[in-house]
Amino acid sequence: MAMANLPHFVQYQGSKRNLATYILQFLPKKINRLVEPFAGTAAISVAASANQISHNFWLNDLNQPLIKLLELAIENPNEIADFYSKLWNEQHTDSIAHYFEVRSKFNQTNDEKLFLYLLARCVKGSVRYNSRGLFNQSPDKRRKGTRPETMRKNIAGVSNLLKGKCQFTSLDYREVLDGSQDGDFIYMDPPYQGVCGNRDSRYLSGINFDDFVLAIEQLNQKEATFAVSYDGKLGNKAFGKFLPSSLNLERIEIEVGRSSQSTLLGKAETTVESLYLSPSLFRSLSSVREFNYTDKKIGNSPKQLTLLEKHGEFAAATR
Ligand SMILES: C[S@@+](CC[C@H](N)C(=O)[O-])C[C@H]1O[C@@H](n2cnc3c(N)ncnc32)[C@H](O)[C@@H]1O
Repeated sequence: MAMANLPHFVQYQGSKRNLATYILQFLPKKINRLVEPFAGTAAISVAASANQISHNFWLNDLNQPLIKLLELAIENPNEIADFYSKLWNEQHTDSIAHYFEVRSKFNQTNDEKLFLYLLARCVKGSVRYNSRGLFNQSPDKRRKGTRPETMRKNIAGVSNLLKGKCQFTSLDYREVLDGSQDGDFIYMDPPYQGVCGNRDSRYLSGINFDDFVLAIEQLNQKEATFAVSYDGKLGNKAFGKFLPSSLNLERIEIEVGRSSQSTLLGKAETTVESLYLSPSLFRSLSSVREFNYTDKKIGNSPKQLTLLEKHGEFAAATR
């Protein structure tokens, strides 16, 4: 399946759908089980299944309605597609009031079926939570949300690739790492590091940097094979702290594209995301430097991957 046609059932902030092509190049060619402790909408598992890299997945996300929605969409695609269609068609009299009604019902019940409608209908598909963990994003006033027939097709696409192949949990990522076994490959895509400690209004929860570093140290001790999407930079400005060089990870940069804000200001700044490879993964990719990463394209914009020196040296050079 061409990567550009990878199915996804709903837009989700931080989804790795557009980067899946590149990230997959650094994964082993065959994986017994792909473990995603921060699954979100599971873009990397979808891509790995489409490319027959793995037939066995563990999808976890602390956001319970999200993981329940993922499970329902994968295992019972018609049930959720029918529900969405009914709910979507109810919005025609007063679409905005309808959205707020669904939102308060969701905040009372955590019903994952209502969550799909909110994800499809909220501003830019960006979830937002208040300090009490209530979903508080507004509706997109210009759009009505994905049409039911398109939603049905998208859900079926994801379900075809993952049905009957997944374990679903809603745990803190550290429990998932503890439960991972020899032969697993772990792909971690934690929330972008917020500015206010563990809280992050963009997700139900943020994570603590030091705890995350400790969890990676423990994975290294187990000689686990894993990759982490973490920080990045816009132009010369880094966003998020780099993972420390003591972890002995190999840092790859993936150019995501030119930022629209920079283009407006006439600057040629590009956004770059980091992918860190575990020592055992990097060893197994011994031919990595022979790959040709240039001139890859996503849509119309040229993309490029750059294999950097060890990330500690890079970090020192850009700070
Ligand atoms: C950047 S998103 C992942 C996006 C995903 N790769 C995709 O393609 O859709 C990060 C996810 O981590 C989840 N999360 C936040 N804190 C967590 C924790 N402590 N344990 C597990 N998941 C967590 C969030 O709910 C969010 O869905």
